[in-house]
Amino acid sequence: MGRPKISVIGAGNVGASTALMLSQMELGDIVLVDIVEGMPQGKSLDMMEMNPVIGSDSNITGTNGYEETAGSDIVVITSGIPRKPGMSRDDLISTNTNVVKQVTENVAAQSPNAILILVTNPLDAMVYVAHKVSGFPRERVMGMAGVLDSARFRAFIGMELGVSVENINAFVLGGHGDDMVPLGRFTTVAGVPVTELIPEARLEEIIQRTRGGGGEIVKLLKTGSAFYAPAMSAVEMVEAILKDKKKILPCCVRAEGEYGVENTFVGLPVKLGRAGVEEVFQIDLSDSETKELHESASHVKELCEHIEGLGII
Ligand code: NAI
Ligand code: 2OP
Repeated sequence: MGRPKISVIGAGNVGASTALMLSQMELGDIVLVDIVEGMPQGKSLDMMEMNPVIGSDSNITGTNGYEETAGSDIVVITSGIPRKPGMSRDDLISTNTNVVKQVTENVAAQSPNAILILVTNPLDAMVYVAHKVSGFPRERVMGMAGVLDSARFRAFIGMELGVSVENINAFVLGGHGDDMVPLGRFTTVAGVPVTELIPEARLEEIIQRTRGGGGEIVKLLKTGSAFYAPAMSAVEMVEAILKDKKKILPCCVRAEGEYGVENTFVGLPVKLGRAGVEEVFQIDLSDSETKELHESASHVKELCEHIEGLGII
């Protein structure tokens, strides 16, 4: 049988952190790929030397090629450039479309049955690129954003109420942009709707902070974007898939009529199991929530049309 094989493309901040967390959780053997010579090899060796201390037997291989990734069960794609202060996620579009196209072609050739988890921004549009270039079914091409955005929302609610973040359930749907859709109505603290615990005006401020959560960190770091929470969010998706947990998580997926959204890549609640996206989970949204989701989805659609116009894919 052997252990599951997980490849992580891009060994920068998010990719290396993802590999580190995967190894800490011993979720499988890991291949770390980057174009920078020596860097993925050096980081992988460093992590192999960490493993005796943490008691992990995950093998971690660093490489500048794709042969080592052959037969991967899951491939997490983080390669590309991150935002600098003043840049929106959309400013990354043409550089990262080229990167994701080239990476996806290599990955799909080596691992035709893999499940792809995209992290590279602009996230929803990059899931579209990987889906188109790989030709994989929608079940096996998804993006990480909703888990991170929901984690930020949960963290801010925990800070506000002084309760354990473990008690907080939250859903942020829509595209991974400033028009994401945090669902206050479906957010609970030990089962109690958060709307009963935090006054409306204050909750709205927390929602706005969640929407700007990525930008808040870019502004502080000055040289890049967040990576610890993004990496752990991708790892939660990997774990749900490899352990066939049937976990409901907000992930970017190609909507095929669900929530009234057609042929667009957007964050929706999905059931993650060994087959990947096993179901798009339906919840009853209000008219205003549906309107926000549709607005967010139409923004992604515009980006995808823009990519089509670039003639790269
Ligand atoms: P980083 O700059 O630290 O790492 C990116 C790595 O990709 C670099 O090591 C670079 O050499 C590598 N790379 C570039 N082109 C490549 C190629 N063709 N093949 C293989 N590797 C290649 O950036 P960081 O912070 O790791 O972010 C990576 C991406 O993830 C960015 O686009 C960022 O915006 C995005 N991101 C998305 C999040 C989300 O919620 N979806 C959250 C955080 C970051
Ligand atoms: C974030 O939300 C930059 O998309 C990245 O932190």
